[in-house]
Amino acid sequence: MNPSENTVSQTLAALGIAQPDEISSLFAEVRARFDAEIIRAHDEPNWNITKVVWLGRKSGVLAQITDNWLKPATPELKRAVGASLNELRAHVESKIEECRVAIESGSEESALTRERVDLSLPGVVRPIGSHHLIRQVFQDVEDIFVSIGFSVVEGPEIETPYYNFEALNIPEFHPVRDDMDTFYIDLAKGAPTPLLLRTHTSPMQIRTMEKQKPPVRVIVPGKVYRRDNPDATHSFAFHQVEGLAVDTDITFCDFTGTIEYFVKQFFGSGVKTRFRPSYFPFTEPSVEFDVSCIFCGGSGMAASGGICGKCKGAGWIELFGAGMVDPAVYGFVNYDAKKVNGFAFGMGMDRLAMLKYGIDDIQVFFQNDVRFLRQFP
Ligand code: FA5
Repeated sequence: MNPSENTVSQTLAALGIAQPDEISSLFAEVRARFDAEIIRAHDEPNWNITKVVWLGRKSGVLAQITDNWLKPATPELKRAVGASLNELRAHVESKIEECRVAIESGSEESALTRERVDLSLPGVVRPIGSHHLIRQVFQDVEDIFVSIGFSVVEGPEIETPYYNFEALNIPEFHPVRDDMDTFYIDLAKGAPTPLLLRTHTSPMQIRTMEKQKPPVRVIVPGKVYRRDNPDATHSFAFHQVEGLAVDTDITFCDFTGTIEYFVKQFFGSGVKTRFRPSYFPFTEPSVEFDVSCIFCGGSGMAASGGICGKCKGAGWIELFGAGMVDPAVYGFVNYDAKKVNGFAFGMGMDRLAMLKYGIDDIQVFFQNDVRFLRQFP
C-alpha cells in the first residue's frame, strides 16, 4: 500500500503529528502521489477511476483527509490543515479538469481520423436513364412548333363530356361519338356531371380559347384514351399533340404551309405527304393528313409479295386529322365567328414515332421492355 493511502485513513494524532510545520510535508507527499496517478489517467476509464479515488464524496482521498485530518484536528493544527487541504483540492480539481479536456479533444481527433472522407476514392456510379421514345418525339415536335411561334400548354386527362364533345360541336347522340367511345369514371350518385378519360387533346382548344382572346397559337401534348381494340397501330391509351391557331386573317394556305413545314422538319424533305378530305364536327373543311408508308415504300405490297400489313395495302399511313376551325365552335367560347378564323390539328404521336424510327408495332411503347428502350438513349 502507498504510504499516503495509509496516512489519510488515520488521524493526525495517530500519525504522531502535533506541530503545524509538519503539515506541509504531509500534504506534499499526498500531492506527489496524486501527480503520479493523474499522469496515468490518459483515457476515459482511467480518468473516471482517478476522479472517484480522489474526489469521491464518501471515501475519496480528499474526503478522508477532511474526515480524518481536518475534523478531529486540534485547534492549533486546524488552520494549517484547512489551508493545505484547500490548496490540494484546487490542484486536484484543476488537474482532473485539464485531463478531461485533453482526453475529449484527443478522442475527437481520433474520431475525425476514423471518419475522414477520402475524396480521392472513385465515386458511386449511378446509371442514368433516358427519356422514353415518345417523350423524345414530344420534345422534337414541341421544338419545331415553338420555333415558329407556338406555345405549349397542357390540360386534364379526366374531362367532362362538355369539353370532350359538346363544346366541340359534337352533341349527344352524334354518330361521331361512336368512334370515340371511352372510359367513364365511377362517380357517386348525384354527381353534377359525368367524367371521362379524354378521347383526344381537342378539349384544350376550348379551354384555351375560354381563357384567352385571339391571337392564339398553341400546341397541346398529352395522353388520350379510347375504347379501341389493340393492334399494330391502335392502342387504348396513346398520345396526341393538338395544334390551334386563331387570328383575324388565317387562311387555308397558312394551315397547309404550317403542316408541310412541320412534316419536312420532322421527317426530312424526302417524305411524300397528302391531304385527304375528311369530316370532324369541329373543323370545316376537314382533312386527314397521310404520310407514305415507310414499311413498303408506299407501294402497298410487303417484301414477301403479299399486302403490306402496316398500311393495309394503302401505301399511306394516316398521321392526323385537321381542318379550319368550324365557326360553330367559336360560339362556345364567345369569339366573334365573323371576325376570327383559324386552323386546328390533332396528331397521333405514337404513329409519328413509328414512322420516323421504323417501329412496326405500337404496343412496344407500352411494354417497357428495356431491350427496346435502350435502342433510343
Ligand atoms: C382526332 O382525334 C381529332 N381530335 C383530331 C383533330 C384535331 C381534327 C383538331 C381536327 C382538328 P382522330 O380520331 O383521327 O382525330 O385521331 C387523330 C390521330 O390519332 C390519328 O390520325 C392517329 O394518328 C391517332 N390515333 C387515333 N386512334 C388511335 C389509337 N387507338 N391508337 C393510336 N393512335 C391513334
